[in-house]
Amino acid sequence: MSQKHEQLLIIDFGSQVTQLIARRVRESGIYCEVHPYNKINKQMIDKYAPKAVILSGGPNSVMGTSSPRIDENVFALGVPILGICYGQQALCSQLGGVVETSNEREFGRADIEIVKDSPLLNGIGEIGSFHRVWMSHGDRVSKLPDGFEIIAKSPNAPFAATQDLKRNYYSVMFHPEVVHTVIGKQLLHNFTHGIAKFKGDWTMAQFKDEAIASIREQVGDGKVICGLSGGVDSSVVAVLLNEAIGDQLTCVFVDTGMMRKNEAEEVVSLFSKHYSMNLVHIDAEDQFLDLLEGVSDPEKKRKIIGKTFIDIFEVEAKKIGGAKFLAQGTLYPDVIESVSFDGGPSVTIKSHHNVGGLPERMDMALVEPLRELFKDEVRDLGRELGLDPAFVERHPFPGPGLAIRCPGEITRDKLDLLREADAVYLDQIRKHGLYNTIWQAFAVILPVKTVGVMGDGRTYEYVLALRAVTSSDGMTADYYPFSHEFLGETATRIINEVNGVNRVVYDVTSKPPGTIEWE
Ligand code: XMP
Repeated sequence: MSQKHEQLLIIDFGSQVTQLIARRVRESGIYCEVHPYNKINKQMIDKYAPKAVILSGGPNSVMGTSSPRIDENVFALGVPILGICYGQQALCSQLGGVVETSNEREFGRADIEIVKDSPLLNGIGEIGSFHRVWMSHGDRVSKLPDGFEIIAKSPNAPFAATQDLKRNYYSVMFHPEVVHTVIGKQLLHNFTHGIAKFKGDWTMAQFKDEAIASIREQVGDGKVICGLSGGVDSSVVAVLLNEAIGDQLTCVFVDTGMMRKNEAEEVVSLFSKHYSMNLVHIDAEDQFLDLLEGVSDPEKKRKIIGKTFIDIFEVEAKKIGGAKFLAQGTLYPDVIESVSFDGGPSVTIKSHHNVGGLPERMDMALVEPLRELFKDEVRDLGRELGLDPAFVERHPFPGPGLAIRCPGEITRDKLDLLREADAVYLDQIRKHGLYNTIWQAFAVILPVKTVGVMGDGRTYEYVLALRAVTSSDGMTADYYPFSHEFLGETATRIINEVNGVNRVVYDVTSKPPGTIEWE
């Protein structure tokens, strides 16, 4: 939580799309943070000192006995407030209005009609004009608190948008943060820039300078060790730290033997040629593959890989005379504490590898300069730091690498085959100009062989699955709708150019219910 720039506070009531509010606000040059409703108190509010507050949607009903409430200190701030969906209902019910369960639930698209001029609807349309929005609610406000008036309505939502001009409180029943609400961007901009008078001058250049200053302050003259994987996040962390503390930083690139084709060479050459930094290149292929021999359980694989990374780091940190700090590319979506209404621990879907066990084992403090950023902002920061565009645009690559794209037992032969096939697939994607519209694309080698016919002969070879998804943060994803021509051409190229594959399939599963990686 920093106070170097104007900031907006988003109070989370547990909506699935709260993060989108933050993204929209940040896109308009305003720094904001998301905090769960139950962590808001006077001390927090005084420290954060927001210039405006947005209340998110949420799954609860304000009529429930222990329904989430807006902390009273929020009202004491005297700053503009925008309530969205549940946020609207909580705002209205706490200020003296009435909320009731409606028989007409509204989910999905709806059209609202503007009924009154309002700074919130500035530039959106005349009185009497209709606008497409995205609703998702069961309850609705049935009586407004004193001081509020209606500014837009829909057939099932007579209080679709409301305002209290005196207190600068606004509320909408729909979700302006989702793209389906066509007027959403303008509406949020009206709230932040027009009503709350934010300057919108939060830039990456400013963030970079602040991050460098705070890294210097945190580490003093201590040594920092940083795992460099060649992914966007770790590359940006490495370059940022190099700029901040130069020689005090040692980057460790661990070649697990499960990298993509030419990956190790590319990463090491980029960083050793273009940056003067301490870079240690560890060839740990044998160490990893020997430990993984015969292991087919996905969680066991992940655990072995995680532990091996830690062992290697420990050795390297000792070699440089002990590092006090470990730098990690933790991003904002990992930091946002999501509101859990059942109070239960969330289920572990996959143990994601990070070097999280390391700080405790070696008594190191974490340096996490990206913990306030979303993925696309990390890319902007990379550009700001002058990082090679080819690196900045790269698709995410998981720590365990090809291990989790090789379901079942991992062998060197399978990894070689997968590397070749993956390279052909990505080459196809680049040639068709699709690389930057796809969040992530990769091949998976299946642990099955099937019969085929090539020339006049029978073949019995591996099946390869192709995966490509669009996503904004990896939390949810849609499969990418390639054309049949593209898929056909790619399958033909892979089968012709890669020995050992005679069948190619395309994965059309979204997340949820699938995950992006296969293990
Ligand atoms: P899943 O498969 O969980 O993946 O839908 C979501 C995103 O996370 C990446 N991923 C990982 N990244 N270490 C990482 O650094 C991991 O262990 C790991 N597992 C999955 C995955 O590639 C996708 O971008």
